[in-house]
Amino acid sequence: MVKHFLSLASFTQHELMDLVEKAQSFSHLLQTPEKIPPLLQHKIIANVFYEPSTRTRCSFEVAAKRLGGEVINFNPENSSVKKGETVYDTLKTLESLGVESLVFRHSDDHILEDLKSAFHLPLINAGAGKHEHPTQGLLDLLTLYQEFGKLQGLKVAVCGDIKHSRVAGSLMVAAKIFGIKIYLCGPDSLRPLSTDSMIEAADFDSTLPEVDAVMMLRIQIERHEGLELDAKTYHHQFGMNQRRQKMMQPHAIIMHPGPFNRGLEISDDMVEHPQSRIFKQMHNGVAARMAILDWAINRKGL
Ligand code: CP
Repeated sequence: MVKHFLSLASFTQHELMDLVEKAQSFSHLLQTPEKIPPLLQHKIIANVFYEPSTRTRCSFEVAAKRLGGEVINFNPENSSVKKGETVYDTLKTLESLGVESLVFRHSDDHILEDLKSAFHLPLINAGAGKHEHPTQGLLDLLTLYQEFGKLQGLKVAVCGDIKHSRVAGSLMVAAKIFGIKIYLCGPDSLRPLSTDSMIEAADFDSTLPEVDAVMMLRIQIERHEGLELDAKTYHHQFGMNQRRQKMMQPHAIIMHPGPFNRGLEISDDMVEHPQSRIFKQMHNGVAARMAILDWAINRKGL
């Protein structure tokens, strides 16, 4: 059966922990790239991104190449999409060419769920609209695991544009699987309602001293219509800055999936603060995506 990687919800805690540990092994191997086994030799993956990306697309490319594979970066802007070719026909064309996996990003929340049964190669969700970003979810779990040596029982505040965030979507799925407590902070209009006891709305400032990690989120200006945002007011109310960092416990970490708006949801001096793991998350994106490609394409892997 084809193994698609579309949502963290399709994994058990045990399966997801296996992936986190496999990513951790790759993270060690990345220190000596010449020793990485060529698990994707003679395999070709296609990056098919209908929305912009820096981290996800490039880290999938690095991940595939570190494993000895090759990558096609399909760009809808200079392709037959411009002649009206549909998403289905585009993906089916790439499948016909013989690539081993399709890494796919699109603004539609559920397009892959609708298409998956027609494909015989692994589809990997590299960001689906406002719904899920499961490969980001895995790298976030890896970052938390490296920091705390466990996932169960951690407390994480998520602050910002949660309603439009597929990163938050996947983190909340993972939280339910692992028993991570999530505090939803930020403007009421950007917070989803939750009926899950592990996920609750909270005041940002009073939550900061309680948590192990704070995940700051970008305001997704491109997904709002007519949004009027006063950057200074927003930063004062919900931004990560030195005043709020001092309210956090010394062991607690600052996270952000990127790209970040310096001075809006996070001040310049917090991006590379000693408690920030933002660039560590990006670094972990390669190991996490190596684990996902190996899982999707190879039956055995490490
Ligand atoms: N975090 C993330 O998905 O970044 P990109 O949009 O640059 O891929």
